[in-house]
Amino acid sequence: MQLLLAPMQGLTDDVMRDLLTRIGGFDECVSEFVRITHTVHSRQTWLKYVPEIGNGNRTFAGVPCTVQLLGSDAENMAVNALEAVRFGAAKIDLNFGCPAPTVNKHQGGAVLLKEPQRVYHIVKTLRAALPAHIPLTGKMRLGFEDKSLALENACAIAEGGACALTVHARTKVEGYEPPAHWIWVRKIREAVAVPVTANGDVFTLQDYLGIKQESGCESVMLGRGAVMRPDLARQIKQYERGEAVMAADFAEIMAWIRLFFDLCLAKEANNKYPVARLKQWLGMMKRVYPEAQGVFDAVRTLEEAGDVQKALEHLNHSIYG
Ligand SMILES: Cc1cc2nc3c(=O)[nH]c(=O)nc-3n(C[C@H](O)[C@H](O)[C@H](O)COP(=O)(O)O)c2cc1C
Repeated sequence: MQLLLAPMQGLTDDVMRDLLTRIGGFDECVSEFVRITHTVHSRQTWLKYVPEIGNGNRTFAGVPCTVQLLGSDAENMAVNALEAVRFGAAKIDLNFGCPAPTVNKHQGGAVLLKEPQRVYHIVKTLRAALPAHIPLTGKMRLGFEDKSLALENACAIAEGGACALTVHARTKVEGYEPPAHWIWVRKIREAVAVPVTANGDVFTLQDYLGIKQESGCESVMLGRGAVMRPDLARQIKQYERGEAVMAADFAEIMAWIRLFFDLCLAKEANNKYPVARLKQWLGMMKRVYPEAQGVFDAVRTLEEAGDVQKALEHLNHSIYG
C-alpha cells in the first residue's frame, strides 16, 4: 500500500511537506500546483515552488516529490514540463480538479472535466513531449457539475498516457462538502487500466479503512486530515505493518509546532510568513487537539515572529517543564 500527501495550494508548501514527511508514513508527496499560462517559468521559479527539485526531488526526509502542473494550453504545458525536467523534476502530475473560479475562468482545473477530449489532448501532448523515463500522472475530481463524465475523464487521462490516476471523490460543485463518494473511486478503478489512488475525507485511521474498503484501492492520498492530525500517515503505516498504533501525544505535537515555526523562519525571516502559517496550522489542529486551542489563543494576537517564538517557548516550558 502507498500513502501520498495531497497537493494543497497555500497549505502543503515545501515547509509543510518537509515537516509531514519527517513525521513519517508518507511514500510520496505532490507539490502545490504550478500554474502554467502563456509564459515559460525560469529555473528560479521552479525552485521557488518546488525546492525539492534541487534536492534530488526529495524532501529533507527523503520522500519523493512530484511536480504538479495546472493549465489548459497543452503545448505550453509541455514546454514548461520539459523545462521542469531540465531543472531536475523527476515526475509530473496534471491537475484536473482545482475548483478556484479564477483558474476555471482561464480553462484550468476542474472546468476541463466538462470536455474529456481536451483532458485527453493535454495528457497525450505532455506524454509525447516528456522523456519516456519521466512518469506522468493525473489528479481529477468526479466531474464539474455532475458525475456523468467521471469514467470518460478517467479513461481520457489513462488513455492519454498517464501511468497513474488520483481521484478526489467529489465534483467541483460539491466543493469540500461531505461526504466524499468513495464508491465512485471503485467505479473508476474498475474502468481504467492504470493504478488509482483514492482521495477525499480521510481524517482518521477509521476513515482510511473505509476509503480502502469502498474504493478497493491500495493507494490513498491524505490532504487536510494529514495537516490536522500530523501523525495520521504514521498511524496508518503502523496499522498496516501490524504494529500497535501509537497516536502522538501533545508533547510530541508541541515539538513539531516549534520545529514548523523554526522551518518557516528559516525559509522567510520576515514576520508575516512564519506567523501566518503557524496560525493557519494551529487553526486546523485545534479541531482535533483541544490543547492546540491553548497554543492558538496564546499566539492569536501576536504579529512579531520573536514574540511568537517566546510564547511557544513559554508554553512548552509551562506545560512540559
Ligand atoms: C487549501 C487546499 C488547497 C488545495 N490545492 C490543491 C492543489 O494545488 N492541487 C490539487 O490537485 N488539489 C488541491 N487540493 C485538493 C486536495 O489535494 C484534495 O484532493 C482534497 O483536499 C480532498 O482531500 P482531503 O479530504 O484529504 O483534504 C487542495 C485542497 C485544499 C483544501
